[in-house]
Amino acid sequence: MGNINDINKAKLPKHLAIIMDGNGRWAKKQGLVRVVGHENGAKTVREVVEACAELGIENLTLYAFSTENWNRPKIEVRTLMKLLVKSLKKEIKTLQDNNIKLSAIGNLDHLPKEAHKELIEVIEKTKDNQAMTLTLALSYGSREELISAIKTLSLKVKNNIISVDAIDESIINKHLYTQNLPDVDLLIRTSGEHRISNFLLWQIAYAELYFTPILWPDFKKADLYDALIAYQNRERRFGKTSEQIS
Ligand code: IPE
Ligand code: IPE
Ligand code: MG
Repeated sequence: MGNINDINKAKLPKHLAIIMDGNGRWAKKQGLVRVVGHENGAKTVREVVEACAELGIENLTLYAFSTENWNRPKIEVRTLMKLLVKSLKKEIKTLQDNNIKLSAIGNLDHLPKEAHKELIEVIEKTKDNQAMTLTLALSYGSREELISAIKTLSLKVKNNIISVDAIDESIINKHLYTQNLPDVDLLIRTSGEHRISNFLLWQIAYAELYFTPILWPDFKKADLYDALIAYQNRERRFGKTSEQIS
């Protein structure tokens, strides 16, 4: 079991991203409806956010709802959006107490009015907090994000605002929803699925990937510590040889 004392505070990921998966299966396993899984998943969100703040992780991005999730049964989508509003109202205090700034990425205009309004309010209220940036990916799809960036850049080229030759990694970064965030260092996915599901494709180019079979509602602080310890034991070579790194 992961122990906080085994974590090197000087080697934390600057940006941790999590695909929070397995709420539905967690509920099914105990004969409950999927919604109960989502409610318990929300409890894990609080626990993980607090743990990251305690450790001093500067950027945490959580995949909460994908563009593809709009295709779920209407009743589940509605419940998830209601749960989002409820959690925002309830957790504003957690954010303020821990000096956490809330941010959101995705096609936010697609969110129901109330969810959109509540989200903007909490973002506004926490905008001066500095210990950690918590980014919720909501109605987020990486391909949609890239398409939108390509469209904006194309228009700028067409209108002679930038030249084709000037397009480089940093310009692309500036046109993504994640423009204020560093690249992802560690990506965790729970529930035993080994896929990315359209999450931060550009931003995880050199991330360390960590997959765990634990279902999101069962994911506890010690499981987060396990992931961080595993990350710290990896050698990140970025194309170089091991000798060049050490
Ligand atoms: C993750 O849990 C939450 C969302 C995608 C909103 P799931 O709802 O995908 O749970 P499983 O994968 O069906 O178990
Ligand atoms: C990915 O989970 C999206 C979120 C965690 C919000 P899904 O459960 O939607 O992913 P797939 O469809 O199984 O790949
Ligand atoms: Mg799932």
